[in-house]
Amino acid sequence: MQQATHIFTGSGSIKAFEAFIREAPNKYSSIFILTDTNTRKHCLPVLSNTLWFPESAVILEVAPGEKSKSFFSCTRLWSEMAMHGADRQSLLICLGGGVVCDLGGFVASTFQRGINFVYLPTSLLAQVDAAIGGKTGVNLGNLKNYVGTFSEPRAIFIFTKFLLSLHFEELLSGFAEVIKHALLSSEKIFYKLAGRFPDIQSVRECRNWDAVVSQSANIKSKVVKADFHEKGLRKILNFGHTVGHAFESHSLENGSHPLPHGYAVAMGLIVEMILSVRRAGLDEQFYNKISDYLLSLFPFYFFEPDEISEIIRLMGFDKKNQSGEIKMVLMQSPGDFLTNVTCLKQEIEFCLNQYLEMGERHTP
Ligand SMILES: NC(=O)c1ccc[n+]([C@@H]2O[C@H](COP(=O)([O-])OP(=O)(O)OC[C@H]3O[C@@H](n4cnc5c(N)ncnc54)[C@H](O)[C@@H]3O)[C@@H](O)[C@H]2O)c1
Repeated sequence: MQQATHIFTGSGSIKAFEAFIREAPNKYSSIFILTDTNTRKHCLPVLSNTLWFPESAVILEVAPGEKSKSFFSCTRLWSEMAMHGADRQSLLICLGGGVVCDLGGFVASTFQRGINFVYLPTSLLAQVDAAIGGKTGVNLGNLKNYVGTFSEPRAIFIFTKFLLSLHFEELLSGFAEVIKHALLSSEKIFYKLAGRFPDIQSVRECRNWDAVVSQSANIKSKVVKADFHEKGLRKILNFGHTVGHAFESHSLENGSHPLPHGYAVAMGLIVEMILSVRRAGLDEQFYNKISDYLLSLFPFYFFEPDEISEIIRLMGFDKKNQSGEIKMVLMQSPGDFLTNVTCLKQEIEFCLNQYLEMGERHTP
């Protein structure tokens, strides 16, 4: 069931969480905090050193990374909670990146048919994307996010201070979603963002993410509010992801170092914009500007021309596809998108070849 979730951002979020946590022992029978090893080390002290925290809160921990989004973790966490006397009036606080939010949201929404939970997202990706929109879930073996629920947390408290301990690769990866959200919104917002972050150094050196995160989170939140169960508009959030996921899977099959999700999405945005110029009337000059911008921030993803058919095969696994046809989200102009566009394999092949030609110009 959808419930109204309040998203607290900016300087007000710490005050809002302080009030929430003070009240929590009166409202909830027990309090659990789910972390991963990194967020327990880097983020939990940021809270407990500055805020009053109930001593009785039970800390749960999983290993960092995607592997923790599993049934094994769920069973362990449900059991630990049961062992500590959790009941339907308990609260789960999820303190972590997208993995902890997706996993914790799923564990809470299924434990005794659903207990209250809140998110304190700690990575840039989780603050602008994963924590927002009520999708919880775990992987089924290699099948990503195959089992899950649509369940909204009671509240989302976004502290951008957490981002200061985030590894730069993770920060940049989340920044790809920030760029995507700007494109989903308007040309003005995209140029404002690109002006604020003209190069990679400006992303690395940013110490105050409040305004950027709050705007980006708001863009996603508005889309989700209009279409919670992803029947139509919400699909635009997949822009860049059909090709991006295929690049991610391809790198996993072939490389020793898997391509970070956001890096794959950034390259996916470029390919899907090439398609958008051909099929949706996206202005070519605007496309050139965005692709130059993306290539100034993210490394080019190289592959051989004879691997294109494998990449297209991987695109066939996308959840948006229907009856064996590849369905894409294409951009007509910033803020104006087409969903469910059937794209032929030959067309995609042409665009991937065009993408590779750009790579020749960007060879390090
Ligand atoms: N539910 C949704 O709508 C949605 C949307 C997008 C992505 N996701 C999911 O999100 C997950 C990816 O999220 P992610 O990129 O945050 O990955 P993550 O949760 O694995 O975090 C990335 C790494 O950063 C570490 N970390 C997080 N915050 C930190 C901090 N403040 N300081 C130091 N280290 C920190 C983590 O321990 C981890 O090692 C994927 O599983 C994806 O499927 C979900």
